[in-house]
Amino acid sequence: MLDLIKKFTAAFSVTGEETALRSVIEKEAAIYADGISTDPMGNLIVYKKGENSGKKLMIAAHMDEIGFVVTYIEDNGFIRVSNLGGINSISSSYHTVRFNNGTPGVLVFDSGTKPEDIKANKLFVDIGARSAKEAGKKIKIGDTCALTPVFQKLMNNRFTAKAFDDRIGCAVALDSLRNAKKTKYDTYYVFTVQEEVGCRGSKTASFSIMPDYAVALDVTTAGDVPGEKNQPVSLGKGAAIKIKDNSVICSKVIVDRLTALAEKHKIKYQYEILTAGGTDTSSMQLAGAGCDAGCISIPTRYIHTPMETIDFSDVKACSSLLTALTEEGME
Ligand code: CO
Ligand code: ZN
Repeated sequence: MLDLIKKFTAAFSVTGEETALRSVIEKEAAIYADGISTDPMGNLIVYKKGENSGKKLMIAAHMDEIGFVVTYIEDNGFIRVSNLGGINSISSSYHTVRFNNGTPGVLVFDSGTKPEDIKANKLFVDIGARSAKEAGKKIKIGDTCALTPVFQKLMNNRFTAKAFDDRIGCAVALDSLRNAKKTKYDTYYVFTVQEEVGCRGSKTASFSIMPDYAVALDVTTAGDVPGEKNQPVSLGKGAAIKIKDNSVICSKVIVDRLTALAEKHKIKYQYEILTAGGTDTSSMQLAGAGCDAGCISIPTRYIHTPMETIDFSDVKACSSLLTALTEEGME
């Protein structure tokens, strides 16, 4: 699965511009799918026929990541940007970035800016251009950029990279699709778009699928670092079963079922409550007349910074738990 994670974090996929990553995932998923399609929003829907075709299970992992969009090019060739999603401007600055057309640059902020004033409107990208005209040959208004991929192994099979949110969820979905011997229900593995700007892709996808059960895969804040308080999740303690986040209260039947499956298969798990931030879980739960929805979360440190950090044993636990659910269903 590490190969998948590496490949996914390297692909460009800023929110609203997920095409490059989508074709990488599509290629990987095609041989395991009974059907594969892209909807008008850009969601990739991978269908697997179930044994008991009466019910539908939807799984969602978002392809998009936070990034920047070009708003203006200054006379001297510096490129002004606005944020796409909840970017941490301080931690993103003084990093290299890559535009959708491959152009590299460095993201910095106006010199003399006080730390408390470092927001997206103080940031600019230096691509090395000497004038607006020169910059305009490479970059135009509306182009997007993301931090340059990094992928670094740490001790204890822990890894750091940008955009583990939510490439790790995409990798878990695909790994589970590869490993599942069967799917109990008609199962839709949906790789969603535009989660970072309000769970938009999952809204239309769940509306067209109308699942009976739904599970999102996304990262959650690990609280086991200096300065974090009242956050129960730790790296290395297993798959995190979501109780709630700011967008959803998970259906109790899903929480209970995931817990029972984790106990049965001796998969390490912990419970998660995220006090800030939402996930695709909410869109799926609220689609149509509603459905039973929950979320398997991957414990992650330093979310929405260029060095999101995970423990690979948690990732494997998440994949095993998802596979148990897709194979055995709700009972
Ligand atoms: Co995010
Ligand atoms: Zn996410």
